[in-house]
Amino acid sequence: MRDADVAGKHVLVRSDLNVPLEDGRVADDTRIEASLPTLRLVLNRAATEVRVCSHLGRPKSEEDRVKYSMEPVRARLRELLPDERVVVLENTRFDPRETANDPSFARELAEECDLFVNDAFGSAHRAHASTVGVAQLLPAYAGLLLERELEMLGRLLGEVERPFVLISGGAKVEDKLGVLRNLGGRADEVLIGGKMAEEVRESNPLEFEVVLPKDVVAASAFDADAETKVVPYEELPEGWLGLDIGPETQRDFAVRIHRAKTVFWNGPMGVFEWPRFAAGTRAVAEAVGEVDGYTVVGGADSARALHEADLADKVDWVSTGGGASLELLEGKELPGVAAIPEA
Ligand code: 3PG
Ligand code: MG
Repeated sequence: MRDADVAGKHVLVRSDLNVPLEDGRVADDTRIEASLPTLRLVLNRAATEVRVCSHLGRPKSEEDRVKYSMEPVRARLRELLPDERVVVLENTRFDPRETANDPSFARELAEECDLFVNDAFGSAHRAHASTVGVAQLLPAYAGLLLERELEMLGRLLGEVERPFVLISGGAKVEDKLGVLRNLGGRADEVLIGGKMAEEVRESNPLEFEVVLPKDVVAASAFDADAETKVVPYEELPEGWLGLDIGPETQRDFAVRIHRAKTVFWNGPMGVFEWPRFAAGTRAVAEAVGEVDGYTVVGGADSARALHEADLADKVDWVSTGGGASLELLEGKELPGVAAIPEA
């Protein structure tokens, strides 16, 4: 987009403003902050209008239209970038034509716009109307964030310094297992925590060895105030849930992480949003921060954990992409990137 002439133009920008929410507020604004340089550049180059669009969450029901309204994101963006030329559209996923990449929805998004800037690296693995559809209708450019993400993550694709330790956790287990299957072979050691560890233990679809938790913080219910106890992984009481990795696993993971020369971490080790289940994720964040080597952390939740522990400046790159960064590392072409001629 450095060469795009936007003066006097209406510019459609796809950002990834899919931020974690809590009680109707933006719980972490990393992705909003990360989208600012591109928006500022377009504004400084005298664009007439900057129409920003993004999805937020995975809305399914009517109630989700309230839960995943763009309003809190819009408000935060306005605070950070008070400029009347910026218009934030409603959650693109409120329209089912978004995920179907329906051309009629892409046409609506592109209406009256002169060009398109895709800065949503975090959504580049989705071939949706707002990421791919519009790129086929308007002259399309890569935003500054998207460009930088490709550069920083790209460093993990070539020859890396070893050992290369990959750490994976988080909630979108189904999405990630397939990716891990293709990706794991690149790493010397793969550490798995969180819900994903349970899945892998039950029916391991992976063809390489992984390091799983030895112990967990068990909770009597899925509740911030539930009764808890630390138990060996195999001894999780019937009906209880493992909501964090236990202290022995934290030490084990930290030792392995400290040995690394290259690290990629995606996904928390437990329900870190609740303080009593945050220690495992924090221990991983600290260990990654101490590594003397190239360290990349990806995904909205891991980024949030890193910021809450005040460790973001201890790693080389905090990627705004979770699934997108994993798919990129897998060696896949991301549809959102492929749709931009120069990217
Ligand atoms: C993310 O949070 O990984 C991106 O915003 C994509 O969200 P999605 O997995 O719901 O497509
Ligand atoms: Mg996410």
